[in-house]
Amino acid sequence: MPHIVVKEYKEFITPIKKDDFEFLWFAKPLINARDTLVGASYNNQKFLLSIKSNKKDELIIKSDKVTRISPTILIKRALKEFCQMAECEILRTNINNLNEKHLQKSDEFLKGIDFFYKNFPKDKEIWIEIGFGSGRHLLYQAKKNLNILFIGIEIHKPSIEQVLKQIDLQNIKNILILDYDARTFLEFVPSNIVGKIFVHFPVPWDKKPHRRVISKKFINEAKRVLKKGGTLELRTDSKLYFDYSLELFLEEKKIRLEIDKNKELEISSKYEDRWKRLQKDIYDIKMINQEISEPIDIGFDFKFTKELDIEKIINSFDTKPKVYSDFFIHFEKIYQIDENRVLIKLSFGDFSNPEHRYIFIQNKKALYFGNIPFASKANIKSHQEIEKILNG
Ligand SMILES: C[S@@+](CC[C@H](N)C(=O)[O-])C[C@H]1O[C@@H](n2cnc3c(N)ncnc32)[C@H](O)[C@@H]1O
Repeated sequence: MPHIVVKEYKEFITPIKKDDFEFLWFAKPLINARDTLVGASYNNQKFLLSIKSNKKDELIIKSDKVTRISPTILIKRALKEFCQMAECEILRTNINNLNEKHLQKSDEFLKGIDFFYKNFPKDKEIWIEIGFGSGRHLLYQAKKNLNILFIGIEIHKPSIEQVLKQIDLQNIKNILILDYDARTFLEFVPSNIVGKIFVHFPVPWDKKPHRRVISKKFINEAKRVLKKGGTLELRTDSKLYFDYSLELFLEEKKIRLEIDKNKELEISSKYEDRWKRLQKDIYDIKMINQEISEPIDIGFDFKFTKELDIEKIINSFDTKPKVYSDFFIHFEKIYQIDENRVLIKLSFGDFSNPEHRYIFIQNKKALYFGNIPFASKANIKSHQEIEKILNG
């Protein structure tokens, strides 16, 4: 990850604009935290830089993980602009290979979760590829099916950047890339609008099955977002993953299943080529959805409505996780910007797929800093409980 190691930096007066970035404030550790956070904004996307000392008494400046923006080039630029403002005494850095060429294209095709949450594209049929890796299959399908809008979801940043570069070089117009956990994404895709979902060679997670993309919940969501006749196509080289998934698919109603072994596709991914060279078997399960699903309401706004007492919040800040029947809340850290502003780091929601967020409180009003949580049942319940706790 991009970072700059500095001996010293100088705080500057905020808020201040520097090129495309705005630096908003410095938040100092108050309870349980060790780093200083710098609030920042790019094109209305809020994010944080973190400044932390290492064992050698140097300071490492990098992007905070929870609010990280994509692509990586933006983080490198933010770090560079910050260091110019803060007159950093730089010891070393890995941000010098700045490549601006693909930045503009990236903005056009790389979308944040907010984009989909607020204006889910509905004017074309949608096909989704989950964990596209090198992107060979995604790029091939997009070029072949120009009337389809493709959403490619990946969490591996170098793969995302590589595919964004290819989208630019090959002048492809019908792919949107999302850097997000696909398991959660499906939960707020509107019902019955997806034609195909591809899950090719998902990580088998033999020892951590809860991290697998395919789960009962995922299959249910996939069924809901698929049109009647739409398909979820799982391709795997892991017999264990195949067996596990088949058992889950067989529990579903109103679907058809097609099973293949060593089926040839028109395009083979890098990953697949490797398995074929090793003469490993490849298994396919195609789930064909047979029903029309009810629409869902994803309109929850995650607003905090009541006025808050900052002093009371600081004095009663409890870092012990609170566990409820189907969700949890963990207030982790608190930072202070000035007497009227604090920043709280917390995690909450589903036990196996928790949300990590910051809550920013200014002049007695609270809001999520960065993206709001997405409207899963566990997150809505957590939010309502968080508000009660903050209200004391
Ligand atoms: C084994 S690779 C396969 C890549 C590609 N589909 C292929 O066939 O070459 C699995 C990919 O899934 C991605 N991945 C794993 N879990 C994911 C998740 N929850 N959401 C999105 N992508 C995920 C990984 O980053 C990785 O690139």
